[in-house]
Amino acid sequence: MSIRRLPSDLINRIAAGEVVERPASALKELVENSLDAGASHVAVRLSAGGLDLIEVVDDGSGMAPAEMHLALERHATSKLPDDAIENVSSFGFRGEALPSIASVARLTLESRVAGADGWRIEIDHGARAGEGPAALPPGTRIRVEGLFDKVPARRKFLRSPRAEYGACLDAVRRLAMARPDVGFAIEHDGRRGLSVQPSDAPTRVAALLDRELVAHGLGIDCTRDGLRLTGVVSLPTFNRGMADHQFLFVNDRPVKDRLLVGSLRAAYRDLLARDRHPVAALFVEVPTGEVDINVHPAKTEVRFRDPSAVRGLLVGGLRAALDEAGHRSAAHVQAAAPVQWTSDLTRPAHPLSHQSHPRERGDPASCFYAGESSGPPAFAGVADRPLEFANYQPAARAEPATGPVPAFPLGVARGQVAATYIVAEAEDGLVIVDQHAAHERLVLERMRAASSGGEVARQALLLPDVVEMDEPDCDRLEEAAPELAGLGLEVERFGPTAMLVRATPAPLGKTDVPGLLRDLAAELAEIGTALTLRDRLDHVAATIACHGSVRAGRILSVAEMNALLREMEVTPRSGQCNHGRPTWVKLAHGDIERLFGRK
Ligand SMILES: Nc1ncnc2c1ncn2[C@@H]1O[C@H](COP(=O)(O)OP(=O)(O)OP(=O)(O)O)[C@@H](O)[C@H]1O
Ligand SMILES: [Mg+2]
Repeated sequence: MSIRRLPSDLINRIAAGEVVERPASALKELVENSLDAGASHVAVRLSAGGLDLIEVVDDGSGMAPAEMHLALERHATSKLPDDAIENVSSFGFRGEALPSIASVARLTLESRVAGADGWRIEIDHGARAGEGPAALPPGTRIRVEGLFDKVPARRKFLRSPRAEYGACLDAVRRLAMARPDVGFAIEHDGRRGLSVQPSDAPTRVAALLDRELVAHGLGIDCTRDGLRLTGVVSLPTFNRGMADHQFLFVNDRPVKDRLLVGSLRAAYRDLLARDRHPVAALFVEVPTGEVDINVHPAKTEVRFRDPSAVRGLLVGGLRAALDEAGHRSAAHVQAAAPVQWTSDLTRPAHPLSHQSHPRERGDPASCFYAGESSGPPAFAGVADRPLEFANYQPAARAEPATGPVPAFPLGVARGQVAATYIVAEAEDGLVIVDQHAAHERLVLERMRAASSGGEVARQALLLPDVVEMDEPDCDRLEEAAPELAGLGLEVERFGPTAMLVRATPAPLGKTDVPGLLRDLAAELAEIGTALTLRDRLDHVAATIACHGSVRAGRILSVAEMNALLREMEVTPRSGQCNHGRPTWVKLAHGDIERLFGRK
């Protein structure tokens, strides 16, 4: 076997394997080049999801013919004038995008510098196919046709033109958020897909994100240790089944960074079910020396010199904003609820049953259900609640209304419906509380408060419980035993495939011990050792709290109902349960009047 230097067209095709994965990645490279060239407007035209044609036209600096030749050569770039990669602020710097794309497609490059004539160069799968004068306004126009036509291996992995178009749109949307000062337009198979004029960052983000986020979003602006975080995130009650609406930027470069995604997740941890995701557009600014962008061929990942500072900024900053908005989640439901209620009165279905599936967008009342998971229920006791309600025989109890209502935000209890919902009268309207969801939240906050001031009180079991489990699960629980003890849960290894439980956290009351242990083992397997002890404890506390809520279906006395309402008023983040569902809704007096057509 002899070693040989590879010919340059083969090198380019190998590079294309990394850089040009699908039409969207080629498009991303071309638009980035336009932005680096100082364009103020970028127009994109696609056919068949970019498989047949990708065209990018910009009004940037343009290139002279000699530069155009160089641009198509590997490792030729204008973006590293002084070899200082660490200070790069342009999108590109590797000098390989154009030759890579040209090696797996037919590429026509036309360009013109202001005050000079335009020129055209054609490349067919890496080989020169012609050149000559071209008529175009100052700037650059690039056409990429028949991408991967001669690379069947790659073509096999492409999805439908529709899906590829979706990915193209996503790539441009991300760049458009990064550069609000530039106008963008996309046309797909003759139809306009997206069109935005130059604007400021908040306007651009609002134009490109879910319209609903205006009402369900939280503006973020915080600084810590020389790092800055700005942008917008959704309230926990506004969430999605996929993490596809998370737009993350580092120094205005769109990234898909695991550290940032993980931090975002951690900030919402006990506010959302595991299979639900917030919507977010977040911009992290760090001094250029603090971040290495040269770690990924497509430049979508970065490496931070101090990852924990970045994580702290995100988790801390988002958490503070979400805590502050703790009550707001429910307040928004308030606005949406009457619409839902009015329409539900005409339906035979039960208002809170699974039968009416929420739409994630466009439905003003969707946040009412927004936490409902469509996949398998993450937590028992929550998912089965609507069914319970559906089968429930009416058994409401009411308290006589005497005298004026004291000024409590959540009002005074007037009755209980389906042994699940508390109906209360407040000064300004009617409040309905989901006692199970509310209680779950209160238990978590109580556990948190207790664990931050030392250990959570334990309740010893008269007879220790033996729980049979898989060996790896037992290993995990055994390893976490000291943490769990701090949260009031005393467990010990009991042979290779069983655990012994001696005490449970007092704030839980009576609980299903084997179920709790199984959930904890699954939770520990998922979070692994990636989190700090503090974060792990918080996670575990949320799982325990979820398990401990036994109050759905329980008849409460008036005193108990009022005690629950008062505790909710003084407990942080009590507006939503640990899965992001609201714990209460309010019908303001005006809403009630509208329901009856009095207004
Ligand atoms: N639309 C454009 N307008 C003006 N110049 C361009 C344009 N596109 C490419 N160029 C020039 O061609 C060069 C090569 O582009 P190419 O995308 O291959 O590499 P790069 O942008 O320098 O680095 P990277 O491979 O990281 O994208 C650029 O450095 C730039 O000088
Ligand atoms: Mg480039």
